[in-house]
Amino acid sequence: MNKPTKKKVAVFASGSGTNLENIARLVQAGKLGCEIALVVCDNPHAYALKRAGNFGLKTAVIERKGFASKAEFDAEISKQLKENGVELILLAGFMRILGPEFVRMWKGRILNIHPSLLPKYPGVHSIRDAYRAKEKETGVTIHFVDEGVDSGPVILQRSIPIQSEDTLEALEERVHAVEYELYPEAIRLFLAGKTQQPSLRAKRSNP
Ligand code: GRF
Repeated sequence: MNKPTKKKVAVFASGSGTNLENIARLVQAGKLGCEIALVVCDNPHAYALKRAGNFGLKTAVIERKGFASKAEFDAEISKQLKENGVELILLAGFMRILGPEFVRMWKGRILNIHPSLLPKYPGVHSIRDAYRAKEKETGVTIHFVDEGVDSGPVILQRSIPIQSEDTLEALEERVHAVEYELYPEAIRLFLAGKTQQPSLRAKRSNP
């Protein structure tokens, strides 16, 4: 009997790539039922590319400055995803906002990880912002991507207490440790068909 084919995913990263590495390690160990068909990176100097190389992953470096418009940049990404048979996009520290057309095309098939309890602290300095605001807790959110910024339907969230004696560095470390557990958990839910797709949700709430 033929083995069932694994879903092909693309991981998008712009920086360090520790989430990419965590996902790649689990995929390699057979603990995440998918295949990383492509790593998309918009920054040729990103350490994520080195990590991708260590796992022998195929990479596409697509720089925004190589395109006249954002729409053309997004279209090139979509083209490469299709050429590689990608069915699911995992944003993991990708520092660009994907355009509405791209998001509509891939709707329900783009996940993002964000280091706060969304809708609190969207943006790029979420851990620091929660820390400076002297919050009692922050957390990690995995959500579907919609046309907004850090705003799509939540798949999983986990809270992390902030202790009064915490340094920012200690808090960051705990947040990242939770990320490495929560993203794979959400990916497994998605692959098992146990996440509610945004389009289905919209239909239900607008009868
Ligand atoms: C993570 O904190 C993730 O939640 C956020 O960007 C960071 C990426 O870190 N979206 P890394 O590149 O995976 O190390």
